[in-house]
Amino acid sequence: MVGKEAMSTPVMHSTEMKSFDIAWVREQFPSLALQYSRHTSAFLDGPAGTQVPKQVMDAVQYYFLGANANTYGAFLTSRRANEMILSARAAMADFFNCDSNEVVFGQNMTTITFALSRAIARELNPGDEIVVTTLDHDANVAPWRALEEKGVVIRQVGIRESDCTLDLDDLKRKISAKTRLVAVGYASNIVGTINPVAEITRLAHAAGALMFIDAVHYAPHGPIDVKALDCDFLVCSPYKFFGPHMGTLYGKKEHLEHFKPYKVRPATDASPECWETGTQVQELIAGIAAAVDYLAELGRHCDLSVKTRREALLAAYRATRRYETTLITRLIEGLQTIPGVKIFGITDPKRFDERCSTLSFRLGDHHPTEIATFLGDRGIFTWDGNFYALNLSERLGVEQKGGVLRVGLVHYNNADEVDRLLVALREFVAR
Ligand SMILES: Cc1ncc(COP(=O)(O)O)c(C=O)c1O
Repeated sequence: MVGKEAMSTPVMHSTEMKSFDIAWVREQFPSLALQYSRHTSAFLDGPAGTQVPKQVMDAVQYYFLGANANTYGAFLTSRRANEMILSARAAMADFFNCDSNEVVFGQNMTTITFALSRAIARELNPGDEIVVTTLDHDANVAPWRALEEKGVVIRQVGIRESDCTLDLDDLKRKISAKTRLVAVGYASNIVGTINPVAEITRLAHAAGALMFIDAVHYAPHGPIDVKALDCDFLVCSPYKFFGPHMGTLYGKKEHLEHFKPYKVRPATDASPECWETGTQVQELIAGIAAAVDYLAELGRHCDLSVKTRREALLAAYRATRRYETTLITRLIEGLQTIPGVKIFGITDPKRFDERCSTLSFRLGDHHPTEIATFLGDRGIFTWDGNFYALNLSERLGVEQKGGVLRVGLVHYNNADEVDRLLVALREFVAR
């Protein structure tokens, strides 16, 4: 690996990163070349699922070619399937900064969270409280609200509408001695706000509550360190960070061993496998490991001095964060010159460390679907609607009007795509 990189990249004399090699990045993603009606596709739809590098496609194929069997059999392909799952757990452990036995795989974040909320509910009593937020995707609200059936009280934290950030004073008021769990997103999948989850974890723990973080939207944009955060649970979905359609859960070992998942009798009681209901989508677990390895390869490409996979992941995120900030700056500056655009969330460049490169806006009275269709016809893929962050869409008063238009920039996007979007929007306005 190092040899290959040394051939294609200049040797670094310090640990300083070189400029972001977007050409190398884009080569890793074959689907970025997809043509649509004489246009090269511009994938600005990442928040609903990113494209995957060829390493991920190869890993899925490799699984089918040589490791396709159920686990714990006394033969070659079954042993390989076991080994593959162990190495995927190790990859996600580096991704989260935890131990391998604290990593659980599942169908997606929503399914994992419903399963976990039911397991935790076995120990809750009527009157116990759970704190959720108005900024969150409903997958981090509904699984907790479902416990109202058991008499659990849900407290919902509000936002500051001017910049779409969490109202921390309200959060402090809502956490009390009755709080058993605080469920907060790491970043908003509509407006891109990054929440102060470390601080919120401290507040939750000071009240004796568990902290559950939905990192689905944050994972493609920033490094996750569950040890530093000290959170109890954290979920994210590999299909949002360049991997296949699955979900993953980090749970502190003591909690994964203490809480009891609903499971079939013959399945193991040993954690973390007891949390993985039924046969897993093993070919996609192979793809998850490859997605983490892709990010690590990117990190080594950016910083030749890194040694471990974890260090390489951190280097990758340092580089992508810096690069994505240039893209979002360009996008916001451009949008602000288009008459009728109303951006939701943080637009002050001095506060860009509080946001990631996901942005939503409305354009006059136009229905977001009309704009997304216009852009889609020009090969520019964006999303319109509420993206299941229903509380926020309602709170911002856009739910009845088709929601917002969302532009998601990730590290494989480039300035050219941002400019194409801006030109197309000006064309839309001028029709
Ligand atoms: C912030 C956030 N949380 C949760 C989810 C749900 O994830 P999954 O599709 O893995 O259930 C999404 C999906 O868009 C999301 O953006």
